[in-house]
Amino acid sequence: MADHGARPDDGGRTDGIPMIPALRWDEPPEGPVLVLLDQTRLPAEESELVCTDASALVAAIRSLAVRGAPLLGIAGAYGVALAAARGFDVEQAAAALAGARPTAANLETGVRRAKDAYDAALAAGGDAAAAALRAARALHREDAEASAVMAERGLALLDEWRPGGGHRILTHCNTGELVSGGEGTAFAVALAAHRAGRLRRLWVDETRPLLQGARLTAWEAARQRMAYTLLADDAAGSLFAAGEVDAVVVGADRIAADGSVANKVGTYPLAVLARYHHVPFVVVAPWTTVDVGTPDGASIEVEQRAGREVTEIGGAVVAPLGTQAYNPAFDVTPPELVTALVTERGVLSPVTAEGVATLEGRA
Ligand code: MRU
Repeated sequence: MADHGARPDDGGRTDGIPMIPALRWDEPPEGPVLVLLDQTRLPAEESELVCTDASALVAAIRSLAVRGAPLLGIAGAYGVALAAARGFDVEQAAAALAGARPTAANLETGVRRAKDAYDAALAAGGDAAAAALRAARALHREDAEASAVMAERGLALLDEWRPGGGHRILTHCNTGELVSGGEGTAFAVALAAHRAGRLRRLWVDETRPLLQGARLTAWEAARQRMAYTLLADDAAGSLFAAGEVDAVVVGADRIAADGSVANKVGTYPLAVLARYHHVPFVVVAPWTTVDVGTPDGASIEVEQRAGREVTEIGGAVVAPLGTQAYNPAFDVTPPELVTALVTERGVLSPVTAEGVATLEGRA
C-alpha cells in the first residue's frame, strides 16, 4: 500500500484516472504544511489551501474546505503533527481541532490517535513530532485499506440481492476520494460496481443546502465515467415509486453503540422511503466512524449550521431578507431502518447493539 505522506497520483490504479489529491503533507524549506484541495470551490476550480498551523486547519474544517468523516479524522491527525512540527502548543491545537465540528466521530479519533502518539514519544524522550506524523500517516494508509475492503464487501452484498448486477444505486452527500485516504465509503461501492460492469445507474441526490452531491459526487462520478444522474433531493420519492432504485448506499458521520447512524441531513427520509418501498438501505463506514461511547441516536450531537446556508444558494439570496432557517447538518437514522452496515471489520445485517459490540471486540 502506498505511503500517503506522498500518495502516488494513480494510488496504484491501472485505469489512468489520477487519484484526487484531497489532502497531502508537504515539507518545503519554509517548514511543513498540510495542503488541502479546497472543496468549497469544486467543481468550478481545483485550488489548494495551504495550512501552516492548526488554526488555519480548524477554519478549513469549519468552512467545509476539508470535509467528510474519514478525511476529517485524517486531517485532524495531520493537524496535531503540524502543530508539533511547527512548535505550537499541541494540547491547545488538539482541543481546537477535535472541537471544530461535533458530529463526525472520526475527527476526535484521528486527533486523539496523533496526540496519544505525541504524548507517548514525549514521555519516552523520543521525537514526539515525528511520532505524531507517523500516526497520521498510518491512519491515512489504514483508511485507504478499509475503503478497499468495504468496497468489495458492499458490492458482494448488492450482488447477493441482485445476482445479475445492473445495480441502480441511490446515494446522498459525497463519500468518494474527496473524503477518504482511498476511494471512499459508499461511493467506493458504486465505483467497484462500475468497474465490474455491474452498475446500471448511480442516482446522485444534490444534497441541499451545500450541494455536496451536485458539486462533489457528480464531479467524482464524471471523472470515473460512471453512468450517473443528478436529482433534487425531493425527487427521490418518485424515483422509488417508479421502481428505479435497487439499493440506497450512504456513508456515516457517527454510528452509536445501538447502531444508530448520523449522516448528512436528508439521509433519514431516504431510509424511511427505502423501507416503505422494500429497497435495501446500506450504510458503509470505516470503524473510525463507530463510537461505542455514544449509547444511542438521541445522544449524537447534530451540528447546527448558519441559516445563511439555506437562505442562499452559492452566494445568491433565495429567501426574503430576515428569514429564519432551520439548518441541521446531519440527521439520525435508527438501526431498524438500516438493512446492512458494511465496515472493514465485518458486515452487520441486521444492525443491532450486540452486533456492534461484537465488531468492537474484533480490533
Ligand atoms: O458536512 P459534510 O459534507 O462533512 O458531511 C459529509 C457526510 O455527511 C458524508 O455522508 C459522511 O461524512 C460519510 S462520508 C464518508
